[in-house]
Amino acid sequence: MKKDYILPDLNKARNRRNSIERVSFNIDENYNLLGQGKTYYIETHGCQANQRDSETIAGLLDKMGFVASKDENADLFIINTCAVREGAEDKVFGKLGSLKRIKKERKDFVIGLCGCMAQEEKTVERILEKYHQVDLIFGTHNITSLPKLLSDIYEKSKKKAIEVYSKEGEIVEDVPVTRFVGHKAWVNIMYGCDKFCTYCIVPYTRGKERSRLLEDIVKEVEDLKNSGYKEVCLLGQNVNSYGKDLGLGYGFDVLLREVAKTGINRIRFMTSHPRDFNEDMIDAIKDNPNICPYIHLPVQSGSNNILKKMNRKYTIEEYKDLFDRLKAKLPNFAYTTDIIVGFPNESDEDFKGTLDIVDYCEYDNCFTFIYSKRSGTPAANMEDSISREVKEARLQELNKKVAYYANLKNQKYKDQIVEVLVDGPSKKNSAVYSGYTKDNKLVNFTGENIKTGDLVNVKITEVMSFSLNGELINKVD
Ligand code: 5AD
Ligand code: SF4
Repeated sequence: MKKDYILPDLNKARNRRNSIERVSFNIDENYNLLGQGKTYYIETHGCQANQRDSETIAGLLDKMGFVASKDENADLFIINTCAVREGAEDKVFGKLGSLKRIKKERKDFVIGLCGCMAQEEKTVERILEKYHQVDLIFGTHNITSLPKLLSDIYEKSKKKAIEVYSKEGEIVEDVPVTRFVGHKAWVNIMYGCDKFCTYCIVPYTRGKERSRLLEDIVKEVEDLKNSGYKEVCLLGQNVNSYGKDLGLGYGFDVLLREVAKTGINRIRFMTSHPRDFNEDMIDAIKDNPNICPYIHLPVQSGSNNILKKMNRKYTIEEYKDLFDRLKAKLPNFAYTTDIIVGFPNESDEDFKGTLDIVDYCEYDNCFTFIYSKRSGTPAANMEDSISREVKEARLQELNKKVAYYANLKNQKYKDQIVEVLVDGPSKKNSAVYSGYTKDNKLVNFTGENIKTGDLVNVKITEVMSFSLNGELINKVD
């Protein structure tokens, strides 16, 4: 059978183009009625970038007349995938297996797969070979092609609709978005990553680092504030490199100051890279009380040997120096990190360095992972003589330390009054509400006459390692 699609290519995805094309999206009117009478369900895996992409996918589908379904047995099921670790991919393959049953019962059930797995050549090949139930595949750079791809399926009765680019250089503005919550919003400030840490698939699946224009970002935040949003999280794989590609002479510090001027209650940002975090950014954070006192600063390893092999481009001494400067100017902030254990040939001494950096920084929380080999990345070809048992034992030892400091850091909240942005009733108990403090502590609390999106004061009555319990004092606004 003649293929009318091109598979993704990780080698091509490594190349970077110079030019960035900025385009404004307009949906072709022909597609406006495509979804009439049909429902959709989106299942999102992975990071905040994926969450935000799913909101764009929902925006496009709503524009085409589809209606969101509460359960998976919709007419169109889209799975937005993550490729960062093998475990994330296994979950997706498991899900595709269970969706096959629905497809057997209902021939008109359409299954779409998008996100980072759609950008991996081996994965797409495997899906085409073994997972025939998948009708639609589109990559992270092809979201705006969704209307056309769905038209291929629904109107032209194509068996499979596939569009995945390996190279990109585009920023598309004015794409419809249906935000899943009404009080806090993800705001992309840039896409892609040029850091090429040797373990990481993201630079291949999300492409070249490219920044949105400052005025587009500020306008988006202003609009969100005007429609009642209390919090924005500025998103990028590497927010501290914001603006470098624009060549306009300003960076993340200026963006932070401009976004702060909108007066929105809470501004967060994710993720910082230690290499690009400079003094101007620290000052911009310090000068603006609506920038939340919380910094996520991935260290990945505490060993210089491993940091070098990871291509992190800083030494542990440089990381400590940055951390000291942050603490000096931003002393009451919460600090968290990401750590990978069991990178190829990580020695006991290397791992000891990781335990030491946790002792040094006393993080409020750490997100810890066992290294997962990603085909196509440089680390996948590195020799690794460390057994799975050793890696798991290290993870456990690290997690004990992480929990110790998380608990220690939380003690200071006992009997204190904290401001919480209410996310809604707690998942575990509907008589209890949950939300986050400005420094990103999860708070579960009892109270009456409150709703999602309220800012409230809560008195903390009980302290755990990874959450706080309390009772409502009063509403702030
Ligand atoms: N294996 C394990 N963890 C990884 N991460 C990224 N790639 C891998 C991998 N191959 C972790 C890093 C990153 C976080 C989002 O995921 O710690 O900061
Ligand atoms: Fe991956 Fe490193 Fe880029 Fe983060 S900075 S997305 S870990 S390559």
